[in-house]
Amino acid sequence: MSKPTVWITRKLTEATLERARSRYEVIDNPSDGTFTVDEIVEMSRKVDAILPCHSEIFNADVVARLDPRLKIIANHSVGVDHCNLPALKERGIVVTNTPDVLSDATAEIAILLMLGAARRAGEGERLIRSGNWKDWSPAFMVGVQTTGKRFGVLGMGRVGQATARKARGFGMEIHYHNRRPVADEIAEGAVYHDSVEGLLRHSDVLSIHCPATESTRGIINAATLAHLPDNAILVNTARGAIVNDDDLIAALKAGKPWAAGLDVFNDEPAIHPGYMALDNVFMLPHIGSATRETRDAMGARALDNLDAFFDGREPVDRLV
Ligand code: DGY
Repeated sequence: MSKPTVWITRKLTEATLERARSRYEVIDNPSDGTFTVDEIVEMSRKVDAILPCHSEIFNADVVARLDPRLKIIANHSVGVDHCNLPALKERGIVVTNTPDVLSDATAEIAILLMLGAARRAGEGERLIRSGNWKDWSPAFMVGVQTTGKRFGVLGMGRVGQATARKARGFGMEIHYHNRRPVADEIAEGAVYHDSVEGLLRHSDVLSIHCPATESTRGIINAATLAHLPDNAILVNTARGAIVNDDDLIAALKAGKPWAAGLDVFNDEPAIHPGYMALDNVFMLPHIGSATRETRDAMGARALDNLDAFFDGREPVDRLV
């Protein structure tokens, strides 16, 4: 039987490519370029499967144009807001993602963003590199301490839980909001709030971990931000779409939240220019899952799902 053809849209790790080539005809992308909608549609005529990243958009218009040859989209990402799942389901195209394997890497970045924002790391780095660091004073670059403060988790899924575990190591008290409370052994004493506003009122650090969906889009906005306590830090490692940029920028200018640490943005990489002038924002370019270990694990998980599909088994991470 001939091997199924898989399009691996972006530059993945050698281990992933080697494993993929052992079982599939692979179309890869060594130059790591990005693709237009027309190119994605054109490629769907040539392949049985696509292994994309969140950089390839499968909205309703694209999905309507995909060739019937395409059977499965095995995402190399946990987030699937780039995929219109109902439209893909309607077309009978299976969709999987890669949960679990990136939780710790993303949690590490959330903690880095919390500390970077709280301790003004970006500002300090820029000062040194500019050559303008002239003296030291006890009044110089004073930040806020996180030890012992309240750590609010918006979305107590796998990444939220992993981040909460790390925040506990800073002696932080964990609060969370989720659609439903999680089991006691998962909550590990974390305090549940049944509303976003309730969580924000109890969050000295608010860390966003919910997926971007119709119900979470823009839930961090002027009205909700107003509930944060003084000197709060906002952290986002989930998706930019959860935050209303205009509102967050205005709130940061007004000092509430006191600072933000952001790894994800609306319209990446062309992010809202209003962030650039703000010294109280510590920013990273969507690298939450970017560790060698996690990239290998994401590739393996995506291929496990692909292998299951082509073996006639149910992929563990099947979404539709
Ligand atoms: C994810 O897996 O969703 C990360 O944001 C990288 O795509």
